[in-house]
Amino acid sequence: MKRLFFIYCILFTSFYSIAQNANTIIPKPAFISYPQSTDPFVLDSKQSIFYEMPFEPQAVYLQENIAKQTGILLNLKKTLNTNSLSATGIYLVSNNSLNHPAEKYELNINKQNIQIEYHDLRGLVNGIQSLLQLMPIGQFNSVKISPVHIEDQPRFTYRGMHLDVVRHLFPLNYIKKYIDYLAFHKFNTFHWHLTDDQGWRIEMEAYPKLNTIGSYRNETLIGHFKDSPAQYDGIRYGGFYTKAEIKEIVQYAAIRAITVIPEIDIPGHSRAAIAAYPELSTKPDTNWNVATTWGMYNRQNNVLAPKPATFRFLEKVFDEVVSLFPSPYIHVGGDECSKIWWKQDPATQAFMKEKGLKNETALQTYFIEFIAKHLKSKGKQTIGWHEINEGDLDTSTIVMNWGTEKQAIEAASKGFKVINTPGKPFYFDHYQSQDPKDSLAIHGYNPLEAVYNYNPIPIAVIQRGLSNKIIGGQANVWTEYMGNEKKVDYMIFPRMTALSETLWSMPEKKNYTDFLKRLELNAIPRYQYWNSSWFKDFTKWDISKSPK
Ligand code: ACM
Repeated sequence: MKRLFFIYCILFTSFYSIAQNANTIIPKPAFISYPQSTDPFVLDSKQSIFYEMPFEPQAVYLQENIAKQTGILLNLKKTLNTNSLSATGIYLVSNNSLNHPAEKYELNINKQNIQIEYHDLRGLVNGIQSLLQLMPIGQFNSVKISPVHIEDQPRFTYRGMHLDVVRHLFPLNYIKKYIDYLAFHKFNTFHWHLTDDQGWRIEMEAYPKLNTIGSYRNETLIGHFKDSPAQYDGIRYGGFYTKAEIKEIVQYAAIRAITVIPEIDIPGHSRAAIAAYPELSTKPDTNWNVATTWGMYNRQNNVLAPKPATFRFLEKVFDEVVSLFPSPYIHVGGDECSKIWWKQDPATQAFMKEKGLKNETALQTYFIEFIAKHLKSKGKQTIGWHEINEGDLDTSTIVMNWGTEKQAIEAASKGFKVINTPGKPFYFDHYQSQDPKDSLAIHGYNPLEAVYNYNPIPIAVIQRGLSNKIIGGQANVWTEYMGNEKKVDYMIFPRMTALSETLWSMPEKKNYTDFLKRLELNAIPRYQYWNSSWFKDFTKWDISKSPK
């Protein structure tokens, strides 16, 4: 055994390693310069990370990640003022100047010290990510890191990744891993799609049948939902995240400066809710099943009916959600709400008449404004998919556009803040190749290059002087055809890496050829380090292969 260990050490431990060059950092930093002296900083386990309260969790995060990545375990030293110390080590230094841009950091490396200067928590975490990217992966006694000066801040304030845990459910450890992916790429938001037609994935106390009934479906589709005949596996499927688990995820993300935005999708996409509580539907005497097919729109009744019990339900459900998520934003869905079920229901029509709602679109607006007002009373701002803007909605809600540029332009022009997540190219459930043998996806063609080249601010928005209405972007990961973690990895990588730069770096800093080099040198070794899969044919399937 001892001998084996000795051989292992010879094979995998080097005495020192030269670190990555700062030119390989992803997403591309705003400004990098190299000091005249090229004498490196030599990191070893005799050194410390010096930090100020209240940033101990981030100091520990940095310590753990350096140890995991390099084998070097640093000490932690809490200080009152990191500026006054002179020992060799890593300094996390707060900058209290008032006009410091949000999320900005500076990273200075010289022979004596490494210093990350930040103003806010996100700035610190962003600086930590750049530093970790400069460190090699392996087991070393010491690591040489070349001098560099980086000043960096993001282009957009909202940089998100979404994950649908309804169509397929993923273990808590994978949710954490996904959050680590976000942290590495300097995203700041995890949009957690927790309820839909095919399952309710968050524990609810006031309405326990949401879990005992709504969290389970009888079987799952295999193959594409448009296959005829559709194929099912016959296996009961489901589960949900307990409140304790949700809190664990929120805390895990908070250390990494990532906001978790929960989505409870109403008033459509509510089949799991009406399966649990048919009295909230337009046909209270029906025994609804939790959906087993994908793409429900107009095919199966999945809407909440407007009645006092439903509005009480919404208040209680969202109150429980608000108590779990410190996020200033709550996502209420609002997409693909088919109007036909409301049209067919006399009680719904009577409600509309009583409230003076001229059509079903106005009823949809009524639902969204009802819940947005309630959330506002709890100090939260509402986000919804772009269909919330079909009617005459109050512009204090934020529109998340999943359509084309048209809907983003429309929402920005009406005065909404917009998070742009256009289906083309930010839907990562769409194909990334046109290889007929590629792993099953919904449809479309969103290759890596298209994700990299997309400008989240449409030209018409720039021309109308409304650029500041586009607060950021996000990729959406609907998991109908992603039954396991490896498949999710395969669909998001390397597109997520391209998206990180699209959202972080100014257009003049971006260059696809240079990005591809950094992808090979820096990102792909990380995918390997994480034991994650990825789509490998990304240079072959470029935008020139787009269907005409
Ligand atoms: C969506 O893709 N229905 C938001």
